[in-house]
Amino acid sequence: MTKKALIFLAAGLVYLALMLVLVPGGGRPSDFTLFLGRFHPAVVHLPIGILAIGILLELFSRRWARLEQSVLILLYAGAWAAVVAGIAGLYLAQSGGYDPITLIWHKRLGVLIAIIAAAAFTLRSWADIAQRPPSLIEQRGYLGAVVALAVCVGLAGHLGGRLTHGATYLTRYMPDGLRSVAGLPSKDDIGKLRLQDPAKTTTYDALIAPILAQRCATCHREERARGGLALDSQEALLAGGDDGPVIIEGRSEESELVHRIWLPLYADGHMPPEGSQQLTVAEAELIRWWIDAGASFEGMLSDAETTPVVQAILDGYGLDEIKTGIFALDTAPPDSGDIAALEALGVAVTGLAEEVPYVQVRCTNLDACATDEFAAGLRPLARNVAWLDLGRTNVDDNILATVQDLPHLTRLYLQQTNVTDVGLIHLSSLEYLEYLNLYGTSVSDSGLAALAGLESLRSLYLWQTAVTEDGVARLKADMPNLYINTGLSLAPVDTTTTESPEESTEDVE
Ligand code: HEC
Repeated sequence: MTKKALIFLAAGLVYLALMLVLVPGGGRPSDFTLFLGRFHPAVVHLPIGILAIGILLELFSRRWARLEQSVLILLYAGAWAAVVAGIAGLYLAQSGGYDPITLIWHKRLGVLIAIIAAAAFTLRSWADIAQRPPSLIEQRGYLGAVVALAVCVGLAGHLGGRLTHGATYLTRYMPDGLRSVAGLPSKDDIGKLRLQDPAKTTTYDALIAPILAQRCATCHREERARGGLALDSQEALLAGGDDGPVIIEGRSEESELVHRIWLPLYADGHMPPEGSQQLTVAEAELIRWWIDAGASFEGMLSDAETTPVVQAILDGYGLDEIKTGIFALDTAPPDSGDIAALEALGVAVTGLAEEVPYVQVRCTNLDACATDEFAAGLRPLARNVAWLDLGRTNVDDNILATVQDLPHLTRLYLQQTNVTDVGLIHLSSLEYLEYLNLYGTSVSDSGLAALAGLESLRSLYLWQTAVTEDGVARLKADMPNLYINTGLSLAPVDTTTTESPEESTEDVE
């Protein structure tokens, strides 16, 4: 019986070890692989729990010999649980986006745990199978294996936590007394910028380079430039990636680097990819501000013109806590029933980011959003809709009467729809609207007047509309900070930026 059990276990171990060695990283894993992989975080608690109890009982079994049999069973079950969790984990790893060095050690430790647990079981039961008393080597080897097991389970668990939550997860709320013993900065200082003399530091060196180094350089540095992009030097940043430049000086909305950061977490192409440590809102704001200000590598921090948001960040709120725009509001999360009801109409609803109460709503169907049902379905989610993509559908001015009641809307895509000047009047109350795409509509100069009071508006797309140069000039006089794209500028990004966000990244590897 025990011999058979051992042979089964050995087969499982060989499979796991082969997977570790043979399954390649990179490439696009199949949906089924990803499906299996997602069980890892749940399943992985089994080997941890089973082996921890096994190790504990082993301590007690010195006193109570009756426990020995239980220890054996737990070791055997723990080894199997480690094999299963390991297989799921190796599938999960293929979804990518994990810190590569932490990942490789986590993988090795996971496989090692399965092997050691099996070895401990074998050393303990072999003498029984051979029907003789255990040799000294078996006894010592068994003890060593149990100790190694305890160490490896602790380490693998710690690295697993780092992979999902980032390196500072464990110590983030450590009391200050302990922090100073461990050589960590005090809790109040976490995330605060420790700036040198602002007159002697460039904005880039003080604020931007550290963010790129910390959040992006694991995948974007000279030796390992994913997407052909390195972000660890001035030259590399300017050189861009496989798809060309990633920074357009003075125009954050046009810059691929900013675009990727502000994509919703679950959208293809979001940076850093899902599963990696994400930027804080403050960090994302700083990068956007630096590019809007001209993306200079020479400008001194003391000369930089700050916005109120950036000033607040620099005043030392700490990079972790600062929130801006709609993210600073106390908005209740959306009701999942309301989301499901909207999705039932054939509309895509996705969260904007993790732990954020906002969603993006995207019409993927020509007619679904041109109905009263859609307008009614939007209303219960009114405070949660931040991005609304109605582009290339049959909607007209009627829907804008509902859109005016979406107080937290920041992006609105209306390209190639039937909206007209009359409908734009409804948009004048959208105080957070940053981006408006009217490309390929019949909008004209008279419609633009309704936009003049939109204080947050930064990007407006008017390519192939009836708007004239005069109309643009008049709006520009009212809103000097607004970037207006009329399709006349020959910036290489024009064609992609009239697309909605997911589409514009589809052609990226
Ligand atoms: C875990 C790895 C990883 C991290 C971390 C990461 N990226 Fe990426 N990045 C990739 C991969 C892989 C690609 C290529 C696939 C793609 O374009 O989506 C890429 C592509 C890009 C591109 C497109 C380049 C081009 O021209 O095609 C940009 C821009 C980018 N990343 C910016 C960033 C920024 C900014 C950060 C940090 C805030 C970051 N990335 C962090 C893996 C990563």
